[in-house]
Amino acid sequence: MDKTENITWHGNKVDKNARAENLKQHELVLWFTGLSGSGKSTIATEVEAELTRLGFVAYFLDGDNLRHGINSNLGFSNADRDENIRRIYEIAALFCDSQIISIVSAISPFEKARREAREKIGTENFCEIYIKADIETCKSRDPKGLYKKAVIGEIAEFTGINSPYEEPKNPDIIIDTEKVSVDEAVKIIVQYVFEKQIDCFLSKILETSIYAAYDAGKIIMDIYAKDFVVEYKDDKSPLTEADKKSNDLICERLNKYAPYIDILAEESVDNKKRLENKFCFIVDPLDGTKEFVKKNGEFTVNIGLSYNHKSVMGVVYVPCRNKLYYAAKNHGAYAIDLSKDIFRLFDENTKIKVSERTDELVVMKSRSHSDDRLDVLLEKNKHKIKSQVDAGSSLKGCLIAEGIADIYYRFGYTMEWDTCAMQCIVEEAGGIFVQGDWSDMTYNRENSLNEKGFVILNREENRLD
Ligand code: ADX
Repeated sequence: MDKTENITWHGNKVDKNARAENLKQHELVLWFTGLSGSGKSTIATEVEAELTRLGFVAYFLDGDNLRHGINSNLGFSNADRDENIRRIYEIAALFCDSQIISIVSAISPFEKARREAREKIGTENFCEIYIKADIETCKSRDPKGLYKKAVIGEIAEFTGINSPYEEPKNPDIIIDTEKVSVDEAVKIIVQYVFEKQIDCFLSKILETSIYAAYDAGKIIMDIYAKDFVVEYKDDKSPLTEADKKSNDLICERLNKYAPYIDILAEESVDNKKRLENKFCFIVDPLDGTKEFVKKNGEFTVNIGLSYNHKSVMGVVYVPCRNKLYYAAKNHGAYAIDLSKDIFRLFDENTKIKVSERTDELVVMKSRSHSDDRLDVLLEKNKHKIKSQVDAGSSLKGCLIAEGIADIYYRFGYTMEWDTCAMQCIVEEAGGIFVQGDWSDMTYNRENSLNEKGFVILNREENRLD
């Protein structure tokens, strides 16, 4: 007889989307499989701690621990192991419904039971992590002294000795514990979570970046109010104490929050290891040092994030106007006057959009760079143009994102940190941001120069010929 025959399913009043909205994350099961002593629980514990520190709600479901409670009536026969895994994935499924990230650590030696777990959870939200260590290594580690007992016959049906372990054929992640340290394993798994929950991760990293930019702005304004020394770099661009202090503060904050995301920052030594990382912060601690030195106020602090070479997050803070622009991919672009309004992340009232103008265009011009090619282009198209406006640094893109201006052509070279943050803001506001030859802008490259110039437009039809 079907034991569920007279049982009725009772629906909830809230669905999982409402819970996801509250928690600002989505369901996910990180399922660690591997031999006893392979290091599953060690790594899983660290992953739980790291995800928690990063602001995720994550919970560790350890095979050993569950066998003290809900699974205390089970042993290690094949049937008991299957029942053990079934109960664990049923628990994980409830965690999924609650939108909590569960981290399961169980030998789960059988392919079939792991496949059932994947089917129950849904392959989209199931990440099988094979913690790989060969039996000899596990025997020599023997943290609980169980292999010793199993070998001399004191434990029957011990996995790897007298009970089989079926290696995963197609795991989502393999951690080879003989080559990868615990810290590196945590980094690999946490980055997987970042990618899987990129929207959620972006909102978390955005807050950290906004506070860093704001605090860097305070330091910059303190120096701005005083007399300061100006040095000149090899490329003759100016450098002040404000650039350096802002750079240090931002890098320290970003690094503290997400130590495994590399940083390309204008005033830091460029560590090319970043090229191996899918994520890279791209920072200009003081964009528009020339404006800063001239004391005309239009300098910005830019923090961008590149993911797979695309700009996915941007913060541009204009300290002397107390104006903050920010955006994250799929979250929209926002502008807020911090001297008037209280900051609330993703506040609908502060959302910005590019203008819909197709004539009487307002063209941005660089304050400190003039260009003959630009003058020729603007002259040719003068019937479409109402006015030309000067602004410094990344403010130009932000003014287009806000709908105050419409187009900006830049023929001269810039660096990745001049454009990354601004690009996300423009794009999320509905604008277009491409290289001078109309190809995509890319980030976290070997050479940080944007060699082809760039074009920012409110609408595609406003492209000038
Ligand atoms: S599973 O095979 O059913 O997935 P689970 O991960 O819950 O196993 O429990 C394995 C833990 O139980 C091991 O880490 C070990 O500490 C302990 N243990 C005790 N007896 C055995 C055994 N016969 N085989 C494997 N692990 C055992």
